[in-house]
Amino acid sequence: MDNFINAIASISWWMWIIIILLIVAIRDIFFQKRHTISHNFPIVGHIRYLLESIGPEMRQYFVANNREELPFNRIERSWIYASAKQENNYEGFGTDRDIYAHQHIFINNAMMSYKIEDNHPNSIDKSFIPCAKVMGAYHKRRKPYRPASIINVSAMSFGSLSAKAVESLNKGVKITDAYHNTGEGGLSPYHKNGGDVVFHFGTGYFGVRAKDGGFSMEKMIKLVEDNPFIKAIEIKLSQGAKPGKGGVLPGAKISHEIAEIRGVEVGKDVLSPPNHSAFSNVPELVGFIEDIAEQTGLPVGIKAAIGKLEQWEELADIMKKTGKGPDFITVDGGEGGTGAAPPSFADHVSLPWVYGFGDLYKVFQNKGLTNRIVFIGSGKLGFPAKAAMAFAMGVDCINVAREAMMSIGCIQAQICHTNRCPSGIATQSKWLQNGINVPLKSERLAQYFKSFKKELIEITHAAGHEHPCQFNMNDIEVNVDDHNLSQDMSSTYMYDKTNVPFTSMQDLKDCIFLGGNSEQKTHKN
Ligand SMILES: Cc1cc2nc3c(=O)[nH]c(=O)nc-3n(C[C@H](O)[C@H](O)[C@H](O)COP(=O)(O)O)c2cc1C
Repeated sequence: MDNFINAIASISWWMWIIIILLIVAIRDIFFQKRHTISHNFPIVGHIRYLLESIGPEMRQYFVANNREELPFNRIERSWIYASAKQENNYEGFGTDRDIYAHQHIFINNAMMSYKIEDNHPNSIDKSFIPCAKVMGAYHKRRKPYRPASIINVSAMSFGSLSAKAVESLNKGVKITDAYHNTGEGGLSPYHKNGGDVVFHFGTGYFGVRAKDGGFSMEKMIKLVEDNPFIKAIEIKLSQGAKPGKGGVLPGAKISHEIAEIRGVEVGKDVLSPPNHSAFSNVPELVGFIEDIAEQTGLPVGIKAAIGKLEQWEELADIMKKTGKGPDFITVDGGEGGTGAAPPSFADHVSLPWVYGFGDLYKVFQNKGLTNRIVFIGSGKLGFPAKAAMAFAMGVDCINVAREAMMSIGCIQAQICHTNRCPSGIATQSKWLQNGINVPLKSERLAQYFKSFKKELIEITHAAGHEHPCQFNMNDIEVNVDDHNLSQDMSSTYMYDKTNVPFTSMQDLKDCIFLGGNSEQKTHKN
């Protein structure tokens, strides 16, 4: 035995390297059968796999230019990070964008900006922008809701996001008077930290699921009664990244906690089918919406990505004829994010936000319905100039998902589907999420929202308006070539937005439905 140990100890370090390389080469050639490259080029073949695996990081850090990456380029990410950290989010020396490029948007500034007096709500709070419409007002729901912030957190479930990420978002929206959409994974304890909540469900009915996998009105009523911070309910018809695609939540991912929140069984695969079982056509959808609104008293809306318009036309006809229907419609763009989707869906199914929203808005406008619906937009709209464009096209609120993730530390590693998210946000790994400091991250989300709203208000004033709802299609131009050829949005998208009835920011501040209750909230900067 001693002799063997002495022989091992006498092998020099470079001999060890040769032995290890030899073992790897033997394994590459004779034992592994999966990789042709490492079989044909033993040892060196591994270098290719290594470089391929670190390629995205190398390109992100060293190669890609500031405006090149997708979904969010470095300038966009840096603006969110700096805003969230309350650092200097300005750029020096002028724009580095090619502002003559096709599709570039210009906001027409007024000769003299809108002037705010000393007692104006925005003199007191520079980021105060509530929604100009009240959800549920037209349909006389028992608990109408005026979102106190026009920028809010979009649907992302606990399950696709970590507990600490959800908790940070919820505490963050509370600080900035925004709402937090649950996503389709049910209402978790991490959504119960004081922020307003929009309860969202899809075809799996998680959180309001009957034993047979269908929708349970009983559970819905109880959920709303037990959780008065739920201000509205959103029925998901589809989302931009994977419209019409069902999914399976593998049993292996269903812990006791997730099973309890979603109302499913531990360890058993759960199917989210492509279709709802609670309704199968447009009249039934309207009936379902009215039922939930009647039973809970809350405004009820729908979320969808846009493609064909026939069923939307049918919905608009029914709404006009019956005076019933959704209180809000969330339009998601084909560029929208997800925890996981096949590229064929994410890249190709459904229209980009600008096209989809424009098409949909016209359907409701032609029937004179726009002012009874709160329009919400999502799809890379988390930047002030893009938001101004969306308001000019007709939205009343904006939901942000990935931008909110970035404000709490997401680095756009794009591996949400692997459970290995390095920032601990899109993972269930306890180790990875332990790095999230909840009080700090919630403050960052709030600060991103505040900076966003402040900058949007400043752009609004520069265009001569008091509230972004006053933007119209003539305020924004889209570059098609020479300025004489570039067109304002009404010519490009062939409609003019219907004016939103708006009196003053002060009236919004005094509204008894602000934040969904009659208690006045104090707004501090
Ligand atoms: C991690 C993650 C999870 C999501 N989960 C849902 C969901 O449960 N339901 C849904 O309708 N949309 C979901 N979405 C889509 C977002 O709510 C949003 O509509 C889309 O990402 C566009 O917004 P963004 O460009 O600001 O990210 C998810 C997105 C992400 C990134």
